Amino acid sequence: MAERAGGTLPTARVRAEATEAKVVVRGLSVRYTSSRGTLTALEDISLSVQAGEFCCVVGPSGCGKSTLLRVLAGLIPCAEGEVRIRSDGPQRPLTAMVFQDYALLPWRTVLDNVAFGPENRGVPRAERYRLAREILAKVGLSGFEHAYPHQLSGGMKQRVGIARALANDPEVLLMDEPLAALDAQTRNLMQEELLRIWAEFGKTVVYVTHAIDEAVLLGDRVVVMTARPGRVKAVVPVDLERPRTLEQKGSAHFARLYNEVWQLLREEVSAASREAGGG
Ligand SMILES: Nc1ncnc2c1ncn2[C@@H]1O[C@H](COP(=O)(O)OP(=O)(O)O)[C@@H](O)[C@H]1O
Ligand SMILES: [Mg+2]
Repeated sequence: MAERAGGTLPTARVRAEATEAKVVVRGLSVRYTSSRGTLTALEDISLSVQAGEFCCVVGPSGCGKSTLLRVLAGLIPCAEGEVRIRSDGPQRPLTAMVFQDYALLPWRTVLDNVAFGPENRGVPRAERYRLAREILAKVGLSGFEHAYPHQLSGGMKQRVGIARALANDPEVLLMDEPLAALDAQTRNLMQEELLRIWAEFGKTVVYVTHAIDEAVLLGDRVVVMTARPGRVKAVVPVDLERPRTLEQKGSAHFARLYNEVWQLLREEVSAASREAGGG
């Protein structure tokens, strides 16, 4: 049951066999300690994510969204609270992460980037290439297997990032502002792509974004966090019909949901920017 995070299993993130939800976070607090003192990034976070759910998390900059994902990924242990991820396949990693800056290996081709995880897990060469090609086809990258990351557009790089995470067949896919570096049009197209890919793979997703429209379009629920220390301020269920399309952004119902999230978020954003401004 060894985890990837430095070879040690964080105290509070466990592979759970029988809990109901796919992800259960209970009373999680995270503090960073440095020479300048202790900073509370997250305070008493409780949250459940059901299997197959697309759960979006929004909150002002610095409220601890990435910290939450890092705890879920087992990259930082949490001394306070509990994180349980239900395991439906003992060989499968609990999580895989998609980053805003893609985090691709520049010296590897697209195919070898996607095959990297299976390679590390000892999957034989022919099998890992078969798997990588299959996933690349599903994310719309057939024909680019032998390209290098620098030859791709931002949207294509992020497709590789998503394919690489999916190739690990994680129990839960963690995404940290994956579209934030893209221009507005590419971003729209990628939102639609994400809906399609999610429907195809049926993954449980925890998706961090600061874009409200993205959270409402993609999510089954939107978790709104407070300014630092990050707490769960509210959870907004999104009852838009699926399958969803970009056109739904124009509906009155979408606008109501967008506004509901924005009303919750606006004072947190002001609080965060006051703090940033005041140093
Ligand atoms: N490794 C670290 N050491 C100290 N402070 C950190 C570290 N990582 C993040 N922080 C601080 O914790 C807070 C939350 O950061 P982060 O989780 O990155 O927020 P977000 O992703 O919501 O912008 C911020 O104030 C940030 O400066
Ligand atoms: Mg972040």
